[in-house]
Amino acid sequence: MSAALESLRFKPPDNLIGAMLESHGKARELLRLARLAGSSVELSDRRAAEACTRVERYFRDGFPQLTEVEEAHIFPRLRAWGSALDVTLRMMSEQHRAQEPGVRALVQLCGSLRRQPCNAPKRAQLVGIVDDLERDLDEHLAFEEAVIFEEVRRLLPAPLQLDILEALRLSAGSEAAPDLLPRGEASRV
Ligand SMILES: [Fe+2]
Repeated sequence: MSAALESLRFKPPDNLIGAMLESHGKARELLRLARLAGSSVELSDRRAAEACTRVERYFRDGFPQLTEVEEAHIFPRLRAWGSALDVTLRMMSEQHRAQEPGVRALVQLCGSLRRQPCNAPKRAQLVGIVDDLERDLDEHLAFEEAVIFEEVRRLLPAPLQLDILEALRLSAGSEAAPDLLPRGEASRV
């Protein structure tokens, strides 16, 4: 493979905040893709099924794993390292629990549309689910990026951040890289 082609291959971020930002970006991008699958009459059934496959896979596996790493590895460590954000961290955990029904509904509907992409009522239903989830996630993700990630940078030593990055990679497993959409993929589908 040429050096130019090699440089285009997927390279995972080598730091925790970069990896978390990438996961957040992926959630946002896949919600846009789900909206497109639900709303675009010009999208072929095959393209809609492909889009739903990607959305289903990430929100079934990747997104819950991201939340699990925050709950199991990041929040407890911030508390252990003296963060004063206890109330805020509890609020983030409550938001995680509140997101679960919407995520489950999205996964279920995308699974159904993947098998039957020509179902127009279900495509319309997908837009409603994306509206609700996007509203919840937009605020949650932006707050984590502005407040929680800054606290991680400020408090957690670099080796500990690398340990958490490793946990994130292990939980994502081999499914992580194929799920990642190249930039602009959503607009091309
Ligand atoms: Fe979160």
